[in-house]
Amino acid sequence: MTDYKMLESQAEALLRDEPDGLASAANFVALLYNALDDVNWLGIYVLRGDELVLGPFQGQPACVRIAMGSGVCGTAAATRATQRVPDVHAFPGHIVCDATSRSEIVVPLVIDGVLVGVLDIDSPSLDRFSRGDQDGIERLCATFCRLRSGRGFL
Ligand code: SME
Repeated sequence: MTDYKMLESQAEALLRDEPDGLASAANFVALLYNALDDVNWLGIYVLRGDELVLGPFQGQPACVRIAMGSGVCGTAAATRATQRVPDVHAFPGHIVCDATSRSEIVVPLVIDGVLVGVLDIDSPSLDRFSRGDQDGIERLCATFCRLRSGRGFL
């Protein structure tokens, strides 16, 4: 079980004094990737105009551009709602980046009311992300976005 409360404190300590958005995003992604079990890819897609562009990540090289509304990431961005996908093969339009991925969760990143991107996490196991994981990951994203408030992003 992931200790999301402890991770939140670690994220807060890691990010609160750093004004640079790129450095903060890179460290946020590295913190989560190393703390979460059974994850093969974790990273941020940044909203640039009307498409998502690959940002800081850990894992295999991935597709660089995703259109708004496409795949799990584009759906999360277009709806501003977390997409928790127990079986990626059952998600219509899922975009394969790492063929070992079996389940996925994507959380929109909203800073000061503006959608700036999404956090995408892939697992090689089916149904890896529980409702409790979703709550914990959403809280971590909220912490990240709060700490970037008024300081911009990438
Ligand atoms: N599977 C994602 C694409 C990004 S990769 O998983 C890193 C999607 O369907 O949007």
